[in-house]
Amino acid sequence: MRLVERAGLAALHRLDPETAHGLSLRALAAGLVPLPGAVTSPRLATLLAGLDLPNPVGLAAGYDKNAEAVGPLTRAGFGFVEVGAATPLPQPGNSRPRLFRLPEDRAVINRFGFNNDGAEAIAARLARADRRVPVGLNLGANKTSEDRAADFARVLAIAGPHVDFATVNVSSPNTERLRELQGKAALAALLAGVLAARDGLARPVPVFLKIAPDLTEAELEDVAGVALASGIDGIIATNTTLARDGLKSRRRTEAGGLSGVPLFARSTRVLARLSLLTGGRLPLIGVGGIASAEDAWQKIRAGASAVQLYTAMVYGGLSLVAEITRGLDARLAREGFATVADAVGTGREDWL
Ligand code: FNR
Repeated sequence: MRLVERAGLAALHRLDPETAHGLSLRALAAGLVPLPGAVTSPRLATLLAGLDLPNPVGLAAGYDKNAEAVGPLTRAGFGFVEVGAATPLPQPGNSRPRLFRLPEDRAVINRFGFNNDGAEAIAARLARADRRVPVGLNLGANKTSEDRAADFARVLAIAGPHVDFATVNVSSPNTERLRELQGKAALAALLAGVLAARDGLARPVPVFLKIAPDLTEAELEDVAGVALASGIDGIIATNTTLARDGLKSRRRTEAGGLSGVPLFARSTRVLARLSLLTGGRLPLIGVGGIASAEDAWQKIRAGASAVQLYTAMVYGGLSLVAEITRGLDARLAREGFATVADAVGTGREDWL
């Protein structure tokens, strides 16, 4: 990390976390942040569900919920970028404070509850964005919706023409009863609706399913079965956790979803289980607690074709992305792999 970035992060950390987050986005959108472009090499180039990625390190959903800095984010080093969650109608989310830093744990707890400007406004911003790598939208449901399952398809129908992929997010812990949509019958019906909306697009895009890290083994088996039968294009594992094991920071008892370093092992185990259950028939995207090239490497060994991160940037800044990507390239070379794809799942047993 360069000195200016370190000073910038220190200044942001003196502010309330949500204010700091807003400022970081505005600085990006205003062109105040140095943007190196995506690191790439023949080893790092990845084909993910038909998407050509310069590298397999993506931005996870929830950082740019309203697609306000899409262009800059696609030049920040990531191989792909996911924005949102977007719901059909705008909604304010939960009351503040709703974002907490846990510095001693290198973690964050959030209970935003899908605050966003709504699918129409977000689609309009996506349509205008000048992007350099694939951009996807995280789909969510309105808190007050009469038919939450239908909301996911509605957002995709509105924003689909302006994205390269979409993610069905039934795993946020911050909308009451949302995660019940991960149950077998509910999930099958929901995915059928979303895929029908996708097939109605002039340019059909891959659809991913994002799951929680807190599913039981039986629930995970159900999700894997439905995912394989449904025809979706991949699974993102995982969202934030409700678990609070081993935390030290003052804010550790706040309600919401926990992300960052304490999530790493839990989410990587879920990823490895899923890899076993799906037997390589669906690409998996590993998310949760990645803070170094070694962490990204472990996700790939556990079964991920690509990875995403968010919380580590709160502590390590945006330069971390290029650092992780370069480190991953070097690690692949050292281990004797010609491509990321060759390394996927090669260490799965270590996580089972
Ligand atoms: C998130 N995450 C998230 N995920 C999602 O599918 N839709 C969303 O709207 C959000 N919003 C959100 C807000 C905040 C403040 C955080 C910290 C996280 C979850 C995120 O995409 C990711 O799955 C987890 O944070 C785990 O990865 P990291 O942060 O440990 O790298």
